[in-house]
Amino acid sequence: MAERVEVLLSEEEVDERIRKMGEQISKDYAGKNIHLICILKGGSFFMCELAKRITVPVSIDFMSLSSYGESTQSGGVVKIVKDLEESLEGKHVLVVEDIVDTGRSLRYLLDVLKDRGAADVKLCVLLDKPERRVIDIEADYTGFQIPDEFVVGYGMDYAQRYRNLPYVGVVKFDS
Ligand code: IMP
Ligand code: MG
Repeated sequence: MAERVEVLLSEEEVDERIRKMGEQISKDYAGKNIHLICILKGGSFFMCELAKRITVPVSIDFMSLSSYGESTQSGGVVKIVKDLEESLEGKHVLVVEDIVDTGRSLRYLLDVLKDRGAADVKLCVLLDKPERRVIDIEADYTGFQIPDEFVVGYGMDYAQRYRNLPYVGVVKFDS
């Protein structure tokens, strides 16, 4: 089956939105330090671009959750594959993730993080697919709401490919 990628959000659109999100976050956290937690691997491109646009002091850490594997469907089981290196005690934590889809992985993650002594924990996602939600969860900062289609690029993959696309695209399968 041949596959191709159609542009959904152009590089310019995504960059402009991230710049605005950075401005908003910098305002909201004025006078504070932000501890960014990047969810690997998908959140990495978004976190780098966002962090560059934040003007208050920032520290970063990384976490990796089990993912979809090679398919476009969630298995529904989430676990921590790589945990944080630093304590969250007293920190203003902002979790940075590529996309909230069913909401299962972020629900699990936020539940794990809430017992680690952070001053507060907020959630920032580049994309939101509200139609797919199984668990009630809403990000504090959302880049774009998108329809129920499987997207790649800007950190997101299909079978580990396409993460490096500088735009967000939809995978189309020609049979
Ligand atoms: P959840 O279903 O909200 O738990 O999403 C779990 C993870 O699946 C997300 O963090 C993404 O890494 C991945 N994911 C969900 N939808 C897509 C998509 O359309 N493209 C690529 N990855 C996706
Ligand atoms: Mg992810």
